[in-house]
Amino acid sequence: MAVTDHLDDAYLRQSLEQDVRTGLTASPKWLPPKWFYDAAGSELFSRITRLVEYYPTRRELEILRRHAVDVAAAGGADTLVELGSGTSEKTVLLLDALAAAGTLRTYTPVDVDAVTLEAAATRLAVRYPDLGVRPVRADFERHLSLLPRTGRRMVAFLGGTIGNLPPAAREVFLKELRSTLRPGDTLLLGTDLVKDPRRLVAAYDDAQGVTAAFNRNVLHVVNRELDADFEPDAFAHVALYDEDHEWIEMRLRATRPMRVTIRALGLPVSFEDGEEMRTEISAKFRPEGIADELDRAGFTVLRFFTDTAGDFGLTLAGLRPSSS
Ligand code: AVJ
Repeated sequence: MAVTDHLDDAYLRQSLEQDVRTGLTASPKWLPPKWFYDAAGSELFSRITRLVEYYPTRRELEILRRHAVDVAAAGGADTLVELGSGTSEKTVLLLDALAAAGTLRTYTPVDVDAVTLEAAATRLAVRYPDLGVRPVRADFERHLSLLPRTGRRMVAFLGGTIGNLPPAAREVFLKELRSTLRPGDTLLLGTDLVKDPRRLVAAYDDAQGVTAAFNRNVLHVVNRELDADFEPDAFAHVALYDEDHEWIEMRLRATRPMRVTIRALGLPVSFEDGEEMRTEISAKFRPEGIADELDRAGFTVLRFFTDTAGDFGLTLAGLRPSSS
């Protein structure tokens, strides 16, 4: 399976260097969540999706099982583009529905991890022999202009990954996405919903410590890629719910004073005892908030679906007519 690759090693290396330099010289320190996902991190995330505490994946699957046919009918797409496709596990439900609707011709999974992308694309090409599978390796925040240009497209952005972006970045992202779409195209957006903070915190601080290992993995990535000497086990996993922003925050807390060197950057970094570094935000949404954000970016909600427990939201949006 030929993967169209818009990410060369030099580009990835440069963005990692820039992110690490910016985040570790800031106060408070932070690292962006996109660097969790090397092979080990992707495997840990896949384990997270099967944890009893981590409900979003199961809820989104429940919604897709129940409503994929409605989504396919309302979208009428011949081209499905999936941002952050990963293993494309949930996509099968959408592809089945779109194939049954008789409209679907091509599927373009977009992901940063070449190995995952290649495996998913090959598996789907076997399952759907009449489907054109065109995998693209790209950074969805920066390469939206490289998406397929023809046909009636549905862009799926599932899992609640949009919640990793802070509000201002979400606005930029949605506006850029909107500007690449034409009337008839749709956006299928998965969002985790606001709920009891105890359930939210448990979903990001599981009893088995899988999320803790996932969180520390970013330090293993920086050690390997930038020749740094973090001691990942000397950092404690922290997950808290910020009620004002309505987002989960993951942090790594230094359990003693430490000096770390990022050798590839010639950058010494020190941590005070108890100092916390932010590694992820995962925003939780309300239906009205989703509609507002979409509206501000030039979209309009066509359908909103949730699971029976009301834990997760799946929104099908079209282009707001006045802005198209
Ligand atoms: C893949 C971004 C949707 O925010 O819930 C899971 C990542 N982080 N546990 C999320 C994650 C900790 C996940 N997303």
